[in-house]
Amino acid sequence: VTEPDLRGRHVVVSAGGTREPLDPVRFLGNRSSGKQGYALARTAAARGARVTLVAANTTGLPDPAGVDVVQVGTAVQLREAVLKAAADADAVVMAAAVADFRPATYAAGKIKKRDGQDPEPVVLVRNPDILAEISADRARPGQVIVGFAAETDDVLANGRRKLERKGCDLLVVNEVGERKTFGSEENEAVVLGVDGSETPVPYGPKEALADTVWDLVAKRLG
Ligand code: PMT
Repeated sequence: VTEPDLRGRHVVVSAGGTREPLDPVRFLGNRSSGKQGYALARTAAARGARVTLVAANTTGLPDPAGVDVVQVGTAVQLREAVLKAAADADAVVMAAAVADFRPATYAAGKIKKRDGQDPEPVVLVRNPDILAEISADRARPGQVIVGFAAETDDVLANGRRKLERKGCDLLVVNEVGERKTFGSEENEAVVLGVDGSETPVPYGPKEALADTVWDLVAKRLG
């Protein structure tokens, strides 16, 4: 039996991976399926929260029952949707894989290859850092903000540095690879707290990690 310990709370979860278009047919993207974010949304709803799920390119995943789903494509769109939903939220969990950069220009027509010529280099510009922005400028006092860190090496040390840089309260550090974590039903992580705490979550269903995140969020909300 799930305790309704998030009843009366509004939580925002981002899920999936942003796609940054080059032209009408191509984009820069990443391997996030959205499964970890959807598990967070489902478990929060099961614990009584009102949930807004900002979903980036999570085709194929059914909308969780009783959850408000906002579909977005790019990092800029994800930022807008998260800022809007966060205005009255008790907690925000950023499980989405957000592109740090986007192509500087968008070609209105499909980019053509030119016979015998080298391809044009792709010039990138920085995307807004949504997690850092909502952490620095909290929409409500006491709002709990959780980030995720997808790392391939030096996982914990990189996670600790990222927690400091981003300014969030909790950071879920998980290891990723071409066939690790992305798209799978399981995950394994350490949740770092700004208070120095470390909560290891053993390999298991993404729902189990999600429930540990909500336990820690509920504790902070009091
Ligand atoms: O979707 P699945 O297939 O289930 O896979 C789950 C997952 C691996 C995508 C997920 O568990 C995860 O780790 N998500 C975060 C991926 C990521 O973008 O990590 P990062 O280390 O690049 O970013 C750190 C944090 O900053 C994240 O909370 C991210 O949402 C946020 N961010 C990043 C860049 C940016 N411009 N704005 C941001 O808000």
